[in-house]
Amino acid sequence: MKYANLEWRDGQPYNPEFDDVYFSIDHGIDETEHVFIHHNQLQKRFTENKKPSFVITETGFGSGLNFLITVKHWLELSEAQQTLTFFSVENSPFSPEDLILAQKSWPELSYIAEPLQQQYNVASDGFHLFHLFSGRVKLVLMIGDVHDMLSQMQARVDAWFLDGFAPGCNPDMWSDSVFSHIKRLSQKDTTISTYTAAGFVKRALIAQAFDVKKVSGTGNKRHMLTARLNHEDALEQTVSQPWFEPLLHKITEKKVTIIGGGLAGICSAWALVKRGFQVEIIEEAAEYATKASGNPAGMLMPRLSLEDSADAEFSTSAYLYALRSLQIIDPEQKYWQQTGGMQLACSERIKKQIANFPEDDSLVQAMDAKQASELCGLSIDKSVHYFPQAACVYPKKLLNYMINEMGEALSITYNTHVDSIVYENQQWQLLANDEIVHKTSCLILANAWNIKLFSQLKHLELRPARGQLSYYKANQQSIQLKMPLSFKAYLMPENNGLHVSGASFELNDATTQLRESEFQDNLQSIKHEFDGLFDKDDISGGRASVRAVTADRLPIVGHVIDYNKALNDYADLYKGKIPSRYPRAEMLPGLFVNTGYGARGFSSTFLCSELLAAKICDEPLPVSSRVRYALDSSRFLIRSVRKKGTNI
Ligand SMILES: Cc1cc2nc3c(=O)[nH]c(=O)nc-3n(C[C@H](O)[C@H](O)[C@H](O)COP(=O)(O)OP(=O)(O)OC[C@H]3O[C@@H](n4cnc5c(N)ncnc54)[C@H](O)[C@@H]3O)c2cc1C
Ligand SMILES: C[S@@+](CC[C@H](N)C(=O)[O-])C[C@H]1O[C@@H](n2cnc3c(N)ncnc32)[C@H](O)[C@@H]1O
Repeated sequence: MKYANLEWRDGQPYNPEFDDVYFSIDHGIDETEHVFIHHNQLQKRFTENKKPSFVITETGFGSGLNFLITVKHWLELSEAQQTLTFFSVENSPFSPEDLILAQKSWPELSYIAEPLQQQYNVASDGFHLFHLFSGRVKLVLMIGDVHDMLSQMQARVDAWFLDGFAPGCNPDMWSDSVFSHIKRLSQKDTTISTYTAAGFVKRALIAQAFDVKKVSGTGNKRHMLTARLNHEDALEQTVSQPWFEPLLHKITEKKVTIIGGGLAGICSAWALVKRGFQVEIIEEAAEYATKASGNPAGMLMPRLSLEDSADAEFSTSAYLYALRSLQIIDPEQKYWQQTGGMQLACSERIKKQIANFPEDDSLVQAMDAKQASELCGLSIDKSVHYFPQAACVYPKKLLNYMINEMGEALSITYNTHVDSIVYENQQWQLLANDEIVHKTSCLILANAWNIKLFSQLKHLELRPARGQLSYYKANQQSIQLKMPLSFKAYLMPENNGLHVSGASFELNDATTQLRESEFQDNLQSIKHEFDGLFDKDDISGGRASVRAVTADRLPIVGHVIDYNKALNDYADLYKGKIPSRYPRAEMLPGLFVNTGYGARGFSSTFLCSELLAAKICDEPLPVSSRVRYALDSSRFLIRSVRKKGTNI
């Protein structure tokens, strides 16, 4: 990703590549009001809208002026419980500094601009979700080329703002492929407005079954175009991967039960309580967060990848979203601290990444050993990747705070181990010792690797991986450490006189007793990087718990496929028939899963829980299709069938 290479002319941003300005300094607001607000009839539609949400998609976020003005009207005219989801594509976003500078031009919009600027940390290609005004506004910035980004979108758009630079100098933004995605994402009564009156844009919209009008423009533009999709039958429902595009069962009430009171269960509850749900968590332990999520401290750092893959996009988008979420939940940083963090170049893979990763100051900076040592407080002999936004998280305290904030919308039943789940009379029955302990029509399984105990989920490629932490007493040297360091192990800065460090990784081991051998291994990893920092006598305890690890190291989020039906439907997928010949997947009604966080729960769970809630509520999805498919619970089954037929 590259930030826009702007020139500033009399306080106005100008793009030399397209020889165009982003907005008119004198009439910018009037132009937006005329072209995009008035000609999409947004004031009337915001006032009369009875749906829980309204979806706008813009091509070209630029300075964000259109967004700010739209939000102003939304806040004035919509009901407090309604949500505006504003998708905007941008391949050269403003840097944070340029965004602030540009938005200074409209002091009357600063009450919208400032909350956005505080969260603005896009820093990578892909979808980036922002929550503003307690969720009344969601902005999804889709950083990348317009064609790629629209092809990754899944939503039903109510209004489009077509605002690329002039068609003559930027034909990519106005190509047939863009117009066909606009049609794919539209519905009956979707409107479009654009300041251009170019004949080929008009013809392209007509070709996509829109009714188009040329109307009077504003400023020095005599004309502009508006369009509306009046014919429902013009909409076709082609799906490229039917196994990831399920037939959905609509939920009938805002009530949900979650099995598991760890990070995944509590973040799922949080996302749903914000949407007005009543949530009940069923937890086998006597307290919340006693398993993997009960560690005293953990680090929030992304896993970088040099590939352009769904995995890499997810890792960075989820990391940046987790930071935005924590900032909203706990702005005073009582339960987390944004210290920055470092990944030491301790393997060939990481050395290669450090040498080749495109540097972005806000996401990651390559640093030599001397610089790194000065910054982190300990002497390091390797180059590092420094993540300036990385953080320390204190999960138990954070989750306690989130539970309290949810108040009566959340109840937790402890000491209840669910052995099986059965679907009967349109309800999921939760059984413990062969007795029904609970019934619900909407159930989320957030009980980590234990979901494999339920017969409906046996097919998931999910395994336990034991990990043991060591706690070291702080000393004069160790207290100099200012941020988490990741190497073969990881080391957290001192908190309450102790350093948390870990962790061992024992796949297929779900035991939790402490082991001397793992204390030794953890200590050896520290000694290898920081000889003399700690010795055996400095170990003051530890903690072992179990990660839920998937074969591809990505979480599992969303609906649960009807396994037997899918085996039958997709049995000959390995023969290479075209996907559209297959039926859409059937999912188990009202059953959802949120697990597989492995060693990176803190950076992944916030975005995944938001995605899960969006799926449950049938909202526009805040991640790209490729990320959604990569997290889908059906992926393991589909991969196996593709490879081997049904002999799996
Ligand atoms: C040693 C170690 C160090 C880690 N360090 C970091 C780190 O630094 N940074 C990071 O981002 N991540 C780290 N992680 C990963 C992170 O802790 C996990 O990804 C995250 O906590 C997973 O949360 P969860 O809710 O999915 O699982 P859990 O916290 O395990 O929660 C699952 C819950 O389900 C309950 N449950 C299970 N079965 C049933 C049942 N049948 N009925 C009722 N309840 C049930 C359990 O009691 C538990 O409370 C670490 C993990 C380990 C083990
Ligand atoms: C006129 S500006 C948009 C102004 C903006 N709507 C505002 O409110 O300030 C056009 C934007 O489109 C972006 N853009 C141009 N070509 C693009 C492409 N192929 N894909 C994605 N974005 C593109 C530019 O970087 C620029 O920010």
